[in-house]
Amino acid sequence: MYILGIESSCDETAASVSENGTNILSNVISTQIEEHRKYGGVVPEIASRRHCENISGVVKKALSDAGKTLDDIDAVAVTYAPGLIGALLVGVNYAKGLCMASGKPLVPVHHISGHIAANYIAHPTLKPPYLCLVASGGHSHIVEVLDYTSFRVVGRTRDDAAGECFDKCARAMGFPYPGGVHIDKAAQKGDRNAFSLPRPKVTGSEFDFSFSGLKTAVINLLHNSQQKGIEINKEDLSAALQGTISDILCEKTMLAAEALGYNTIAVAGGVSANSGVRGIFEKTCAEKGYSLYLPPLSLCGDNGAMIACQGYFNFLAGQRGDESLNAKATLSLEDI
Ligand code: KG4
Ligand code: ZN
Repeated sequence: MYILGIESSCDETAASVSENGTNILSNVISTQIEEHRKYGGVVPEIASRRHCENISGVVKKALSDAGKTLDDIDAVAVTYAPGLIGALLVGVNYAKGLCMASGKPLVPVHHISGHIAANYIAHPTLKPPYLCLVASGGHSHIVEVLDYTSFRVVGRTRDDAAGECFDKCARAMGFPYPGGVHIDKAAQKGDRNAFSLPRPKVTGSEFDFSFSGLKTAVINLLHNSQQKGIEINKEDLSAALQGTISDILCEKTMLAAEALGYNTIAVAGGVSANSGVRGIFEKTCAEKGYSLYLPPLSLCGDNGAMIACQGYFNFLAGQRGDESLNAKATLSLEDI
């Protein structure tokens, strides 16, 4: 069956046509990064307006790239939560309009479950149950993927997400938005031992994250050295930051894997594109004899293919949206 997937939760308007979830026939992404860059982050009002302008063209291109028309599509999947509310509403209303006009089924998709599904596209051997770290600009979750549509969140961030920590530290270092990828590039040439950065202790749930202390430490270090007129080596600081974030993400995921008895691990979300994160997971999983699944770089960030893929599984599970479907800025993966 053919699914049209639509994604508009943040600053990417994206659409994709997939056949049976994992065979991607098209994947169109219209990014607004350039426009938000001058403000140092996503401006929600601008994001909503751009989605509104772009969504029709993006969906049309996804259909034509796939060599399909709306008539060929069996269901429309759309991200309805979580994300920027005005941005989500554009995708949700567009998908609802398509479905109401054509009589096709509407399938709501949780954005985080979409990131998790990105790994099924590249790795046909990956099957639940397994443990997945989802690290993006807004979320850092350790998730038990019990089935294709059933999730248990066993660890979450208490404050900033890993991507947010990358981006805010990058901004303080003078890198353009979004800074994660710039930290990644700079880190390749740096010495991670040149700086010793704190590893926040989280009391309570041992699988939870906290990145705000690390962010504050980096920002304070930069401000203090600026006041003293001392030049900070950005490559070294990037390497130290990337190394610390990667270690924390991997350590907590491995703790959860051991405690819960998983030896199949996946990583997903924008931060899974980070070379330090990929490297430490590859090394650690090889040492432990665990199977590791990482999305291809093209599917780490927000895209419509992951929504079409998860939409396929949601469709098979009988999940449908009706004309009252609403967008939700926050919604736990466990409450879908
Ligand atoms: O999943 P995503 O595209 O959007 C959200 O759902 O938030 O994740 C975006 C996040 C941003 O914080 C971005 O800086 C980060 O992923 N990111 C990276 C890299 N590529 C994207 N962080 C570190 N290293 C990268 N190579
Ligand atoms: Zn995302």
